[in-house]
Amino acid sequence: MSFEIRVERTENSRLSQLDPQNIGFGKVFSDHMFLVDYKNGEWTNARIVPYGPLNLSPATSAIHYGQSIFEGMKAVAHQSSDTAVALFRPEENARRFNRSAQRMAMPDIPESLFMQGLNTLIELDKAWVPRSEGGALYIRPFMFATDDYIGVKPSDSYCFSIFTCPVGPYYNKALRVKVEEEYSRAAPGGVGFTKCAGNYAGALYPTALAQKEGYDQVLWTDPISHEWVEETGTTNFFAVCSDRIVTPALSQTLLAGITRDSVIQALRHLGHNVEERPLSVQELKDLLAAGELNELFITGTAATLVNLDGFGHRGEYHSVITQGNQTVSKQVKSFLDDLRCGAQADPFGWIKTLD
Ligand SMILES: Cc1ncc(COP(=O)(O)O)c(C=O)c1O
Repeated sequence: MSFEIRVERTENSRLSQLDPQNIGFGKVFSDHMFLVDYKNGEWTNARIVPYGPLNLSPATSAIHYGQSIFEGMKAVAHQSSDTAVALFRPEENARRFNRSAQRMAMPDIPESLFMQGLNTLIELDKAWVPRSEGGALYIRPFMFATDDYIGVKPSDSYCFSIFTCPVGPYYNKALRVKVEEEYSRAAPGGVGFTKCAGNYAGALYPTALAQKEGYDQVLWTDPISHEWVEETGTTNFFAVCSDRIVTPALSQTLLAGITRDSVIQALRHLGHNVEERPLSVQELKDLLAAGELNELFITGTAATLVNLDGFGHRGEYHSVITQGNQTVSKQVKSFLDDLRCGAQADPFGWIKTLD
């Protein structure tokens, strides 16, 4: 299905103010944004307008009752031409977005509308895609409830929008994570598998406490026994052992990362043995004591692939980075980086280029 998208271009591009050497993360926004409204049971008024504030009533129901979901994806410069950019498995983000929407009693966005809005926006703001090493255009699709109404019920109206921001690396060092045993991010039957805004709000306080103790991030464990490793605040978790790579199996309490799935497929393609199964903190400690835990790394769209320095558990720090030279994480990271920018053939059909 094809939708009509009205395009109003900015008359004052801010692109010349961008310092490519000093981009940071999430602070600078590209010139345009895509918007479409959901009213009377249908998506209407699809438009691209200059990036700017939204005009909202104080009674906007997303603010009070939290029907708010988002996605995160990236466009990168592609080697096929000086202006080409590549999206990585964008349809997977559209599908996960609709899984979040369903759980939060929000309407589906047709995949064709998601993709058309995305492609039109990226085409228009392509010059914002950094062509510097490690740079990317971060893409933020989101939907929130717009009923002007106080009372707990699903909203009848919604806004779906996409904006973008040029970004540099999210983390630039190996991270120290704290195994979290007091607080939980998600519960069985809850919303942990969605990208709803509240999941991130609930993680802020435990993360701030961990940061006060000198950690960079929380490593979430299962909400019942706190024995089983799940994920970090915005990434999935991998342990590289001597003869296999283990990552926690998917469940209702962790996000099915698209990078996670891509790393698993890429590792298998490169000949590694990957196990998706429950992984306990005790197993990590036992493997480390036996000299069989070589690397830990985390994966996500914003972070890409980042090594862990080690993990803290019950006040004791376990250094892992000292165990090896990060061979497996380096190998799979450069395979995926090369595939994204076109330096490596794409055997999976994951890359969607826009010329
Ligand atoms: C809680 C959580 N886990 C994992 C991930 C990694 O997912 P992806 O690789 O799709 O970015 C994210 C980021 O979206 C996240 O927010």
